[in-house]
Amino acid sequence: MDKKVTVVGAGNVGATVAMRLVEKELADVVLVDILEGVPAGKALDLAEAAPIEKHDAKILGVTNDYSQAQGSDIVIITAGVPRKPGMSRDDLLSTNMGIIRDVTRQIADVAPESILIVVSNPLDAMCYVALKTSGFPKNRVMGMAGILDSARFRTFIAMELDVSVESTHAFVLGGHGDTMVPLPRYSTVAGIPITELLSPERIDALVERTRNGGAEIVSLLKTGSAYYAPASAAVEMAEAILKDKKKILPCAAYLEGEYGISGLFVGVPVKLGKNGIEQIIEITLTKEENTALQQSAAAVRKLVEDMKRLGL
Ligand code: APR
Repeated sequence: MDKKVTVVGAGNVGATVAMRLVEKELADVVLVDILEGVPAGKALDLAEAAPIEKHDAKILGVTNDYSQAQGSDIVIITAGVPRKPGMSRDDLLSTNMGIIRDVTRQIADVAPESILIVVSNPLDAMCYVALKTSGFPKNRVMGMAGILDSARFRTFIAMELDVSVESTHAFVLGGHGDTMVPLPRYSTVAGIPITELLSPERIDALVERTRNGGAEIVSLLKTGSAYYAPASAAVEMAEAILKDKKKILPCAAYLEGEYGISGLFVGVPVKLGKNGIEQIIEITLTKEENTALQQSAAAVRKLVEDMKRLGL
């Protein structure tokens, strides 16, 4: 392949991201982890699937050898600890802050031109760590959350109305946490807003399930958090960048005044192309939607302040 993507963290999300990247022949992949053997083993297993899956993307797994990430177009950061039942994403703050800082330093040294896609939680705060540690321009640091939250909302809309998921579209803004802001009037089935198709009570129920979508899976898995859909969402971002698609997707982006928010990562619609975030799209929000978005931003700001107290 003429493109290269490094995936840091060879756990559930990272390995699934690697699998989707090579099976779609989007790029050669380097899988990095601190664990001895695990990234090499998973990479070899994926390489041995290639003749059956019919792809020629190369995949290499390494332990702490960041020199292999040199020349990466994109680095997807999934390193860190996932939550367990009863934990919120915010409970991961201090552990994952240290991990993301360490990983980003090493990546910035060997792949200074790369685009960073952060997946580790708490997402918006970890994006902030990656931006400040790397010193990269804001268009080259972003987080995966909105596509996942929107996909969850779309899944529940499709289940509720018994229609194809392909006919659904949904928009979720804000931080990747309990304060996320699903926007029903911009969420549609074949272009028809769901506000025309469902009662306010049913919409509220779907919105609530979307907000708790991550926790619902954590409570079922018990030993970790979701990874199939998060991996799909990260790969959609990578594909939009690698193919310069100019796709409009909800992603965590560093805002400097957009939506009245400054100095924070928050989920907003962006245009993704070869330069990373090429545009932040500002849509007009109702008073209630704006209030919810500002509350969500305040929750992200609190985490950033906590991190500064922890020595960021
Ligand atoms: N450098 C590289 N890899 C690391 C580091 C580090 N400093 N610290 C931890 N890791 C690795 C772990 O060894 C593990 O293999 O990160 C991997 C994480 O994998 P899992 O525990 O399976 O977690 P996963 O479900 O993949 O979630 C990873 O993504 O969705 C978020 O909340 C989730 O923050 C979590 C992250």
